[in-house]
Amino acid sequence: MLKVGLIGAGAIGNTHLLGFENNNKCQIVAIASRTEEHAKAVAEKFQIAKIYIGDNWEEMLRKEDLDIVSICTPNYLHAPMILEAIENNIHILCEKPICISREELIKVENRLKNKKVIFFTAFQKRYISIFPLIKEIIKNNILGKIILTRYLLTHYGPYKSWKASSNEKWFFDTKKAGGGVLLDLGVHCIDLLRYLIDDYVKVNGFNFNTSCINLTYEDNCNVIFQFKNDALGIISVSWCNVPSEIIEIFGTQGSLKIDLFAKKLFSFTPKKLKNNPLIKSAIKSKMSRDVPHHSLINHFITCILKKKQENPNFEDGKKAVEFVLNAYSLKY
Ligand SMILES: NC(=O)c1ccc[n+]([C@@H]2O[C@H](COP(=O)([O-])OP(=O)(O)OC[C@H]3O[C@@H](n4cnc5c(N)ncnc54)[C@H](OP(=O)(O)O)[C@@H]3O)[C@@H](O)[C@H]2O)c1
Repeated sequence: MLKVGLIGAGAIGNTHLLGFENNNKCQIVAIASRTEEHAKAVAEKFQIAKIYIGDNWEEMLRKEDLDIVSICTPNYLHAPMILEAIENNIHILCEKPICISREELIKVENRLKNKKVIFFTAFQKRYISIFPLIKEIIKNNILGKIILTRYLLTHYGPYKSWKASSNEKWFFDTKKAGGGVLLDLGVHCIDLLRYLIDDYVKVNGFNFNTSCINLTYEDNCNVIFQFKNDALGIISVSWCNVPSEIIEIFGTQGSLKIDLFAKKLFSFTPKKLKNNPLIKSAIKSKMSRDVPHHSLINHFITCILKKKQENPNFEDGKKAVEFVLNAYSLKY
């Protein structure tokens, strides 16, 4: 039985805890959270024996003989927690963004070298059931050569649409969050596009405004970029709009649209593609009730048991953060 310790009994921490609770190959043995009341509530709900409060997460990592740590804290704490987990040879599931600076990324990358630690970045969107199908469609050239993509991801922000729960409102604190909506939502967009299409090679442009939240960073922005295969991409993200998530992919022989909030999840052109078996499967695809984070956790645990690193790994987390930092370097 793999022993799990989790840091951060907040909104996403609870989703992780449910995922680990549902997997019979592991047991949650310890929780670290800053506020005693939050740690205790979660410990009671998930029957967790050991609690570490305040800033005592380091003690948990050193004392508990953990196999796994799940890092669900504000962004600025990810890198120090990852480094301590590596030091103690603990497998790591870390929330996005895995780091908030290039210096942190380099440090983590160097420390991971020659270690047998399995590292997963929490890019759960890869596990939404339609996306592996879309990946197959693209891989099999059903759309021809991919030339253009657009990804729109919006909601009303961390304390309205997303119920982040810690009292400190860290998402709006530049030092703790490391960035604005691009670092929060944009990392998901670029990761999913890298998974579906290809790696990016260049960030060409970035524009932004800060229109609805009192922030130093952006709460709306667009990034234009280029994929390795020459296709062009636009990512638009916002913390100031109704929840929506739309991905459009255009190829030389056809195009697709995935709209995660619409009745019609998947649409395509031209009509003649309807006879293609992969397109047929995508047409039938519905939003599943499976929680993507739980599928990610099951995959992570399988990898640990197989002693095999698969994706989304450290490199995927790093590429997504670098994408955002490259965009920021064009302005900030
Ligand atoms: N993959 C996704 O789609 C997704 C979605 C949402 C969030 N996230 C990521 O998940 C992370 C957490 O976000 P959230 O929305 O869950 O935030 P949240 O609800 O505010 O939770 C943050 C948690 O971190 C704990 N914490 C803060 N400082 C700590 C410290 N020094 N030691 C131990 N625990 C500490 C807080 O503890 P107390 O409450 O006990 O004070 C709180 O439980 C962020 O990196 C965010 O980007 C990812």
